Amino acid sequence: MQLNYANMLNTPQTGIQITEAEVQAQLPGVKAIIEALNKGEGDNQDRGVPMLGWQTYARELTAADIQRIQETAQGLAARCDIIFIIGIGGSYLGPKAVIEALYGKNYNDLLKTKIYFLGCDTDPEFYAHCLQIAADKNAGAIVISKSGTTTEPAIAFRFAKQLIAKKQGPLAKDYIIAVTDARKGALRQAADAEGYASFVIPDNIGGRFSVITPVGLVPIAAAGLDIAEYIRGYVDARADIDSPDPEYNPAAIYALLRFLAWQKGAAVEYQVTNSAFFESSIAWTMQLEPESEGHQGHGLHVVPAVFPRDLHSIGQLIQQGPRNLIEIATKILKPRVDLEVPEFADNTDELNYIRQNKLTLRDINGMTIDGPLAAHYAAGVPNMTIELEALTPFYLGKYHYMLMKATAIQGYLLGHNPFIQPGVQFWKDRLFAMAGKPGYEKQHQEYLAARQKASAQHSVGG
Ligand code: PA5
Repeated sequence: MQLNYANMLNTPQTGIQITEAEVQAQLPGVKAIIEALNKGEGDNQDRGVPMLGWQTYARELTAADIQRIQETAQGLAARCDIIFIIGIGGSYLGPKAVIEALYGKNYNDLLKTKIYFLGCDTDPEFYAHCLQIAADKNAGAIVISKSGTTTEPAIAFRFAKQLIAKKQGPLAKDYIIAVTDARKGALRQAADAEGYASFVIPDNIGGRFSVITPVGLVPIAAAGLDIAEYIRGYVDARADIDSPDPEYNPAAIYALLRFLAWQKGAAVEYQVTNSAFFESSIAWTMQLEPESEGHQGHGLHVVPAVFPRDLHSIGQLIQQGPRNLIEIATKILKPRVDLEVPEFADNTDELNYIRQNKLTLRDINGMTIDGPLAAHYAAGVPNMTIELEALTPFYLGKYHYMLMKATAIQGYLLGHNPFIQPGVQFWKDRLFAMAGKPGYEKQHQEYLAARQKASAQHSVGG
């Protein structure tokens, strides 16, 4: 895994300008941040708990832990035609990213036991569709919630539970795996009371850092993927990523360049890829970075883009719009397959030259990222590229550890604790208040009054 950042420096036009000297000047500060993270020091607590468990958890997993996850998850898959993976935010994006990176967006075409993600939406049409698909089948659920009280996945779990109970009767508990807190929350209570197989999300690992815990590992194993390899890659990344020498540490340089760009006025970061399999991995990054950085007015808006698709839409703005953006690309160096573009005798579309020039589809795909990155740089958009050797569990593990460490470093460069998420908690509480959850009576009344006032003013249309 390599980070190429030449295009972050000395942008040839107007736009965010960063120099090598500015990078060098910040290195001692970055070194101090990495050392503090490695030693577990600094402002890193969420509600009194230091949130650095993601740095050590993978190393502490035993062979027996991994085997239990694998056997339980694969046992569920063997009993089910369909598994609902229920969770939201950090309890959803990690497993989805890994499953799609390895099987592609159409993963259900390859899987014997189909996987549907539920609980990150509340759309009744989508619910009805999923429930209808599962109606006559052996359905199971992996329900993931650290707090165990988040409304959206809790609603999804009710529907899944009802469906499973209808089909399996007293055996329903064997079709459910809970991944939640060790002691507290409604999901822990239900797991213990009903006897579900369950796994613990450690107190010291927040949602967006939790893909290395059973949050990611149980669904990934249920999809038949090699979790031991994923863990091995995650641990292997430490040699580079924990290095206190920022010049040789891709996480440090990645964080520092994003920080300098933000300091100089960058507002938007496009997370770009030319791998259709990697789109959900970008969605994972889109949580990790903004939820950790978006505090006290800090942070970049992270926008996903898949090339060449989005070059034909948002590409216009990247090329010629406001110069307040940067781009971060992830390229997969060795795609699993390559294809020859067919040659046709009539050549009416004039594409025979591709093969005659000894180019394959992989070459064209490479051009659809290398070309735009060069053109964007020339037009004032600094960019850097993460090069991943291949889409395998091992390299995904490495990628995840690098991005997590970079995000932690970034938070401290910005000057705040990156391990809290009061803005997300605000929404959870707001939904409780709007829906009138017991205990939220006062907030519910305030909400009703405000809604009435708002609808009485400033409305137009028939
Ligand atoms: O990163 C976070 O803290 C959030 O995205 C949570 O993961 C998300 O809100 C789900 O929370 P929970 O796992 O408690 O249901």
